[in-house]
Amino acid sequence: MDNSSVVIREVMLRDGLQNIPEFIPTEAKIKLFQLIVASGLRNIEITSFVSPKAIPQFQDSVQMAQSVLKMKPKGVEVSALIPNLRGAQIALESGMRKLGLVMSVSESHNINNVRRTTAESIDEVKRILELREKYPDLDMKIGLATVFGCPFEGKIKPEVTLHFIRQFYQLGFRGISMADTVGFGNPREVKEMSRLCVTEFPEVTFSIHLHNTRGLGLANSLAALESGIRIHDGAIGGLGGCPFAPGAKGNTSTEDLVFMFEEMGVSTGVKMDALMEASRYFQSVKKDVRYSSSILEVGVPVPKGAITKDGSEQKWNM
Ligand code: COA
Ligand code: ZN
Repeated sequence: MDNSSVVIREVMLRDGLQNIPEFIPTEAKIKLFQLIVASGLRNIEITSFVSPKAIPQFQDSVQMAQSVLKMKPKGVEVSALIPNLRGAQIALESGMRKLGLVMSVSESHNINNVRRTTAESIDEVKRILELREKYPDLDMKIGLATVFGCPFEGKIKPEVTLHFIRQFYQLGFRGISMADTVGFGNPREVKEMSRLCVTEFPEVTFSIHLHNTRGLGLANSLAALESGIRIHDGAIGGLGGCPFAPGAKGNTSTEDLVFMFEEMGVSTGVKMDALMEASRYFQSVKKDVRYSSSILEVGVPVPKGAITKDGSEQKWNM
């Protein structure tokens, strides 16, 4: 198993923004996208094609898609979230081809989030697949929410998730993301769930989407990597959270993920200085939200200089 590198998928422009009620101007989102690209991140979720009544923050999803696609950022995989057929149609008409449909493995959260039973969501997925007649290059993945626990139903058994993955596999899906929407998972569970997935479905590329709700985001990411999952979602500043999941908090911060992996010798391709520029830019745009990123707060370790007994080398201030 090659665990020498990971891909960090930046979900700040979707997950990170969906819990911010005040509309962030499209130009600021575009500028952030450019800074994210400059940092070396190559897998970026740029918006969400959801009802603007449900999440007004994404009322500019068409504009976002068109602006970003016009830039043709080289080597960058640009994707967006969809909750239903309508979202898929609008996204495809805007030029998007890489779409991630969200469905929760818990009935209660799926109903609360997208107002559908899981059976209804799966039926809708089949209808979205019919759009391939018109858009043969549609590249759709499935994002399974609440895999490690649901704010309504509690823990979800791995077999429930595996049952859904089998159905999506039968439908031809080879890209599946597992999300810990409200931070119920612990490293053992994440490692085991990931192992079960990669063992049963070696042809599927799995990714992991973790929220650091209870401080286990990094540990859970590492656990997923130990089972061979190499696409890890992160959000700049540790922002994020599902507005339809009570108790939701931010994603694992991209800065912390990059720091952890790089320190361990696992390559991310991300330049920390440039990443911090992106983070600081967004902090200047939006000051009144709670950021949750250790690296953003204290930076990477920089030795202050050796100390001698006479204090002659002590150039730093406490
Ligand atoms: N994009 C834009 N508009 C949409 C839409 C979409 N994906 N889906 C539905 N709409 C519009 C409909 O056109 C309709 O508009 P109208 O009132 O002007 O006629 C309105 O929304 C309601 O349509 P309806 O068919 O009742 O919606 P629905 O029940 O099929 O779907 C969702 C509701 C899923 C669209 C809505 O609950 C939603 O967007 N949820 C967001 C979930 C989310 O993003 N969660 C966080 C990520 S995990
Ligand atoms: Zn999320």
